[in-house]
Amino acid sequence: MSAKSVKEKTTKSKSTTKTPVKKTATKATSPTRKSAKTKSSKVTAINKSRTFKKSIDLFTRATDLIPQGIYGHQNPAITVPGSYPYYAARGKGSHYWDVDGNEYIDYMCAYGPMVVGYANDKVNAAAKKAIETGDCFNHPSEYMFNLAKRVTSLVSSADWVVFGKNGSDMTTWATQVAREHTQKRKIVMVREAYHGSHAWCTPGHGGLLDEDRSHMLYFDWNREDQLADLFKQHGDDIAGVIMTPYHHPTFTGSVLPKPGFWKAVQSLCNEHEALLIIDDVRAGWRLSIKGSHDYFDFTPDIVCFCKAIGNGYPISAAVGRQDYKAAAGRVFLTGSFWFGSMCMAAAMATLDILEKEKGIGVMMKMGKMLNAGLQKLGEKYGYPMKLTGPASIPYLVLEDDPNLRKSQNFCSQVTKRGSFFHPHHNWFLSAAHTKKDIDQTLNHCEDALKAMGKP
Ligand SMILES: Cc1ncc(COP(=O)(O)O)c(C=O)c1O
Repeated sequence: MSAKSVKEKTTKSKSTTKTPVKKTATKATSPTRKSAKTKSSKVTAINKSRTFKKSIDLFTRATDLIPQGIYGHQNPAITVPGSYPYYAARGKGSHYWDVDGNEYIDYMCAYGPMVVGYANDKVNAAAKKAIETGDCFNHPSEYMFNLAKRVTSLVSSADWVVFGKNGSDMTTWATQVAREHTQKRKIVMVREAYHGSHAWCTPGHGGLLDEDRSHMLYFDWNREDQLADLFKQHGDDIAGVIMTPYHHPTFTGSVLPKPGFWKAVQSLCNEHEALLIIDDVRAGWRLSIKGSHDYFDFTPDIVCFCKAIGNGYPISAAVGRQDYKAAAGRVFLTGSFWFGSMCMAAAMATLDILEKEKGIGVMMKMGKMLNAGLQKLGEKYGYPMKLTGPASIPYLVLEDDPNLRKSQNFCSQVTKRGSFFHPHHNWFLSAAHTKKDIDQTLNHCEDALKAMGKP
């Protein structure tokens, strides 16, 4: 990137209305024993008939046919084996049912994709209309152009867009665009951040070579001083910095950007002519309809979206600024199903609902309600707890829980009562969640805490 294009980068991009940085996304009400009045007289007793027999039976048979039975992040080992369902049967709105017929108020939303409710009628109708005239052709359909118009007009700093199927497609491709544009080799990322399952970034094992990461560099979240050191050491060879809009690692609480962090990162990238790539795959469409960078008030060069854009229909997207459009065009990008109309129609409908029905505001409100209720109950029963990170994508942390046993116990007790709480991953709220859901979930939580007894 020439000094000229750096300058252009700051002047050419779309002007956007900036919203101020939200300092704390989850406003906690200070918990007191007195204020902790819940509807304990009406609490829902654990459904004694709730079993996971079919789930476990299916899983046992699946291990003969499928490596690990269920692989990846949905492998039962990441929850509490025996306390959670392994297979889903159907869903509607904020609820779903497993193969044993157990119903859950869901706080995982399929690990993010469900954003306006399972089996949403409007999204399904749009998808159905598209497939009735065919989905995959020799060419894209007009849906692609219409969705491109929609996404670039919604997201701030988006002059162009490409579509794929998964988050990893987009994050990997974005690093290639950074390399192509800058003609440099190194990519910087934050330790413990997740950017997908490809060799350069997977936290998993197997089939990897040291060479896969020979041009990766790492620093810690909120430590712009460490990033500055990396630029000092490798500045003339750093093509891009890829980061999530706030830090959401697994097995530990989420961390918001400290004041001034994003501005510092942005100016280091500009100074050293490296692209700032935002991985908004997880948080995208849950903080701001304009992109999470707009919520935190900074201007990236490329932003990757996935999960929530199609309410579960498989589609991902990357948007970028004008300066990088030529390089984006030179980096080969395609896939067998990537131009299909169905998912693009579903994404149009999802974005319409989110915008018209102010879906993100609903998620935030429900998340804040849940956090306030959990804090009160935690105080009352001697298990202080709080939700970290933004209210719409909270991560539960229990105090004094070094080996995470309390969290595992609490979340599995709540799940057994009918509200799906993951013990080690951030949760997701959706626009389909209601006050009734939250009240019912808090009843499940109170029952669970009673069953857990004194800490
Ligand atoms: C922040 C982030 N980036 C990238 C990915 C990868 O997306 P996918 O699993 O669709 O490839 C994920 C998936 O969970 C994610 O949370």
